[in-house]
Amino acid sequence: MEPLNMSFLEFSSSSRFFFTCLVLLPCISLVSSANNMTDKLALLAFKAAMTEDPYGVLSSWNDTTDHCQWSGVTCSRLYGSVTRLDLNDQKLSGSISPHIGNLSFMSVLMLGNNSLHHEIPQEVGQLHRLSSLELYLNTLEGEIPRNLSGCARLALLALTYNQLVGGIPIECGSLVKLQIFDLAINHLTGTIPSSIGNMSSLEILSISFNELGGKIPQALGKLTKLEWLDLGENRFLGTVPPSIFNLSSVVRFNIGMNQLGGNLPANIGFTLPNIKLFVVGGNQITGVIPRSMSNATALQVLQVNGNKLLGSMPALDHLKKLHLLDVGYNYLGRGGYDDLSFVCSLTNITSSELFLAASSNSFSGTLPECIGNFSTYFYELWLQENLLFGMIPKIIGNLVTMQRLLLDHNRFSGMVPSVLGNLHNMVELDLSNNKFSGAIPSSLGNLVNLARLYLNHNNFHGYIPSSLSECRSLVELDLSSNNLNGTIPLEFIGLASLSILLNLSQNHLTGVLPKEVGKLNLLAQLDVSRNMLEGDMPASLGSCVGLEVLKMQENSFQGSIPFLHLLVC
Ligand SMILES: *[C@@H]1O[C@H](CO)[C@@H](O)[C@H](O)[C@H]1NC(C)=O
Ligand SMILES: *[C@@H]1O[C@H](CO)[C@@H](O)[C@H](O)[C@H]1NC(C)=O
Ligand SMILES: *[C@@H]1O[C@H](CO)[C@@H](O)[C@H](O)[C@H]1NC(C)=O
Ligand SMILES: *[C@@H]1O[C@H](CO)[C@@H](O)[C@H](O)[C@H]1NC(C)=O
Ligand SMILES: *[C@@H]1O[C@H](CO)[C@@H](O)[C@H](O)[C@H]1NC(C)=O
Ligand SMILES: *[C@@H]1O[C@H](CO)[C@@H](O)[C@H](O)[C@H]1NC(C)=O
Ligand SMILES: *[C@@H]1O[C@H](CO)[C@@H](O)[C@H](O)[C@H]1NC(C)=O
Ligand SMILES: *[C@@H]1O[C@H](CO)[C@@H](O)[C@H](O)[C@H]1NC(C)=O
Ligand SMILES: *[C@@H]1O[C@H](CO)[C@@H](O)[C@H](O)[C@H]1NC(C)=O
Ligand SMILES: *[C@@H]1O[C@H](CO)[C@@H](O)[C@H](O)[C@H]1NC(C)=O
Ligand SMILES: *[C@@H]1O[C@H](CO)[C@@H](O)[C@H](O)[C@H]1NC(C)=O
Ligand SMILES: *[C@@H]1O[C@H](CO)[C@@H](O)[C@H](O)[C@H]1NC(C)=O
Repeated sequence: MEPLNMSFLEFSSSSRFFFTCLVLLPCISLVSSANNMTDKLALLAFKAAMTEDPYGVLSSWNDTTDHCQWSGVTCSRLYGSVTRLDLNDQKLSGSISPHIGNLSFMSVLMLGNNSLHHEIPQEVGQLHRLSSLELYLNTLEGEIPRNLSGCARLALLALTYNQLVGGIPIECGSLVKLQIFDLAINHLTGTIPSSIGNMSSLEILSISFNELGGKIPQALGKLTKLEWLDLGENRFLGTVPPSIFNLSSVVRFNIGMNQLGGNLPANIGFTLPNIKLFVVGGNQITGVIPRSMSNATALQVLQVNGNKLLGSMPALDHLKKLHLLDVGYNYLGRGGYDDLSFVCSLTNITSSELFLAASSNSFSGTLPECIGNFSTYFYELWLQENLLFGMIPKIIGNLVTMQRLLLDHNRFSGMVPSVLGNLHNMVELDLSNNKFSGAIPSSLGNLVNLARLYLNHNNFHGYIPSSLSECRSLVELDLSSNNLNGTIPLEFIGLASLSILLNLSQNHLTGVLPKEVGKLNLLAQLDVSRNMLEGDMPASLGSCVGLEVLKMQENSFQGSIPFLHLLVC
């Protein structure tokens, strides 16, 4: 290209000249071919900065063809200038050429889901007509260019999942047309600038999974069109400004995993009437869960776990669409007989699945009969580490969709109902550290999907049911610290799926260790210590090649252990 031509190109692509041409129709062909050349050169410069193009999407980009025909390129029909570059999902490697700033008619730039690295060039800020910039899912480094504020028409800015550092530029506040601002999953630091309150079109603000800190600015409360507010997994501190709880259009509210304090406002269910997802877990929020929460009738996910909430749970009977409720790891519960009555307020929900976690609180009282009334698919119930007592109601046998039932570390007592064997989808059952008594129901052998069964630290009596050998998915089984007696069933000790732990210690088991133990060739930890076992060590133990821990002490075994490569206690 000759120097003369270059300066002409530069001049002709200026918007002033372009405007003149709009008025003076005859020069259209002149400006378009000029734009053609500027754009073509910029695209070739873009291509030159790529190091890998495994799908060959840029192979059609060569000098001999019209660049408007190149794959991924769209030109305006009237003036022939590039308006759109769509190269999402192409596995392109390389850096983004600064010459991209010369594509002055570009309105959509899509380079998401590639392997682009180095910095976002400042020159992107020259793309005054840009409305959509997608650079998500790359490995871009450096800071967000302040010049981006030059893209005054920007409506979508997706920089999520890169390695960007530095702060959110204060200049971003001038992007008043921006609707989607997605900076999640980067390494951004600093605070949220108050200027963000000026981005009055904002509907989605996602900055979760960064290292941002300081206080959440009050100015966020000015974003009246906001529907998604995702600030989770950062280092925000202080109290949450009340104005944020006032954003009535918000559907998704996530400030989880920060260091935020303060109370939830009493009228929250009315000020966030459209809320579907409310996540404040992993903070230091104090006070009670407001009763008005039940008035936010669209709520599907309510996660307030890992805070300092106390008092009783409000009734949640209007939350028909709830499918995840996690109030675990707080100070909830009043020490009464009916702390779990809020569970009954959920029996009419219409969602197709329900996950309910109320672990590690001070919930007292019994497991209410109403749990049998769940017309929904109750698939996880976590109540461990509370002060619950009484028997497991037989009606629990109705909950056939249950996959994980965690009742450990409570004060439950009585016999375990054999109807638990009806819950065929069960994957994990933890009844450990309670005061259960009676026999282990042989019906548990029906739980063919069960992978983890913990019955340890109870008061179970009688024999180990040989039916447990039917639980062919079991990887971990702990029956330790009970009053089990009799011999170890042959079928049971040969349950070859066990790979993590089999703990039978601290019972009153008698007889020999059956040679079938040799089938446990995946098992890492076997503990039969502190029983009344006797006889020879079976030679077959040598087949348990995966064993890392073998505990056999405080029995009456004879002979030596038939292999030596592990530490035996
Ligand atoms: C882009 O524009 C700049 C400044 O106008 C110019 O120096 C550069 O050569 C242009 N790039 C291409 C590839 O034409
Ligand atoms: C340029 O690209 C076109 C279309 O893919 C192709 O047919 C042609 O062979 C290419 N020319 C050169 C010189 O690579
Ligand atoms: C340039 O623009 C003109 C007019 O819109 C168009 O006919 C032509 O195909 C474009 N491309 C090139 C490479 O000239
Ligand atoms: C990324 O692009 C690849 C193809 O290159 C595709 O298989 C994958 O689904 C894309 N991922 C996302 C999240 O869009
Ligand atoms: C970036 O913006 C600054 C100030 O707005 C300006 O001086 C500079 O020329 C711009 N740089 C580019 C490459 O556009
Ligand atoms: C917000 O915009 C107003 C004018 O629209 C301006 O006066 C103010 O300085 C801006 N605030 C911030 C924090 O940028
Ligand atoms: C919440 O909004 C109401 C009415 O829209 C207003 O009266 C109140 O002052 C706002 N509260 C806060 C804390 O912004
Ligand atoms: C709010 O919820 C409570 C308790 O669930 C209910 O009694 C009350 O009628 C609801 N108020 C409104 C305005 O829906
Ligand atoms: C569930 O629905 C039935 C019938 O509509 C109603 O009588 C009952 O009070 C409801 N239960 C709850 C907890 O809302
Ligand atoms: C639960 O079901 C029982 C019958 O099994 C019924 O008597 C009771 O009223 C139901 N409770 C609710 C809250 O629907
Ligand atoms: C095992 O315990 C049960 C109940 O505690 C008892 O009835 C039975 O006699 C015991 N069996 C043996 C062999 O000790
Ligand atoms: C087996 O259980 C006992 C008592 O519950 C415990 O002390 C021991 O550490 C457990 N063994 C293994 C290998 O985990």
